[in-house]
Amino acid sequence: MGAPFYPSSPLTIEKMLTLAGVTSESIVYDLGCGNGDIVVSAARDYNARKAVGIEQNKRLCSIALRRTRHLKNAIITNANYDDVNLSEANIVTLYQSASENARLKRKLLEELSEGSKVVSHDFGIPGWRPMEFQTFKEGHHSARVIVYVIGSHTPL
Ligand SMILES: C[S@@+](CC[C@H](N)C(=O)[O-])C[C@H]1O[C@@H](n2cnc3c(N)ncnc32)[C@H](O)[C@@H]1O
Repeated sequence: MGAPFYPSSPLTIEKMLTLAGVTSESIVYDLGCGNGDIVVSAARDYNARKAVGIEQNKRLCSIALRRTRHLKNAIITNANYDDVNLSEANIVTLYQSASENARLKRKLLEELSEGSKVVSHDFGIPGWRPMEFQTFKEGHHSARVIVYVIGSHTPL
């Protein structure tokens, strides 16, 4: 089961998108986009070619839609991300849970091309070897951003 809504902070979002190397060539998918903060930042601050947020909660989705209305390179979809094909993405962002990340492995491997990146906030993807890993202070606790590249280090 996916995580309930808890937004990544601006600092964490900056780390996620910078470590993943988002550029104007990137197609970024945020699985469970909540209020759309990651999508807004990828589209506006990093000028991603396309930033797509998928959110199953209708209320959050309408907030995300409102916040991205003016961004031509942002799309918000009200759906279960299990039902959305990810194959055009070259960067996927996640803030779910270790068990949800484990469940998502098969989908990520089946739909993403080799060399695509998956960047996860706080929770690792069991059995995958990170390309980059950063721990940093976030208020009174520490946060983690972990970047994976689809390929030989990301087995099923
Ligand atoms: C911890 S929040 C992360 C929000 C945002 N990605 C961020 O980092 O700021 C997890 C979000 O995933 C959504 N979610 C969980 N399971 C989902 C699913 N199967 N399909 C679509 N959204 C889902 C929840 O409604 C929630 O908004």
